[in-house]
Amino acid sequence: MGYELRQATTLDDLAEMHRLRRDVLFARRGRAAIYNDDHPDDAVANHLKFLLVLDGERIGTARLDLVQGVAKLRLVVIAEERQRQGHGAVMEQLITGHANRLGITTLLVNSAPDAVGFYEKCGWQREIWDASELVGAASDCVQMAKYL
Ligand SMILES: CC(C)(COP(=O)(O)OP(=O)(O)OC[C@H]1O[C@@H](n2cnc3c(N)ncnc32)[C@H](O)[C@@H]1OP(=O)(O)O)[C@@H](O)C(=O)NCCC(=O)NCCS
Repeated sequence: MGYELRQATTLDDLAEMHRLRRDVLFARRGRAAIYNDDHPDDAVANHLKFLLVLDGERIGTARLDLVQGVAKLRLVVIAEERQRQGHGAVMEQLITGHANRLGITTLLVNSAPDAVGFYEKCGWQREIWDASELVGAASDCVQMAKYL
């Protein structure tokens, strides 16, 4: 079977996407309790919610927000027990490929400080692209960009 990158549309896919975000990404920063399954940003038509599936198991998720010709990668997470096994890099490649096919040439991310090394391995570079996003929970994030 192998890898599949698909958009999360079914109730089961969306539930697993939220679980991964809440229990891995938000819990890591002590913020699981404030995770909101009904955040309006998830309902925007140009915000593409992806799941990475390996041999039928949902092991990762990320959202690609298409905004004025660029794409912002958000809420990137690989299941805890599956990290550091190359799956994040595969997901990044598959999402990058999807963006490329949509004609996107600029990808942006607010990287968690401890994920900067991951993005650098995937060809991203540090670049301040909108300092106004570095507030609240994102205040310690590192802005990075990748050009396709
Ligand atoms: C960050 C994350 C998505 C990376 O996915 P992953 O599957 O663990 O990463 P991979 O195994 O594909 O790693 C790819 C490369 O990046 C490196 N890498 C991975 N995580 C890293 C990190 N935190 N710091 C430095 N390098 C890292 C790996 O060593 C690997 O390098 P190699 O090709 O030389 O072997 C994942 O660890 C995760 O979900 N972390 C918790 C949530 C998070 O921080 N998300 C990012 C929010 S911006």
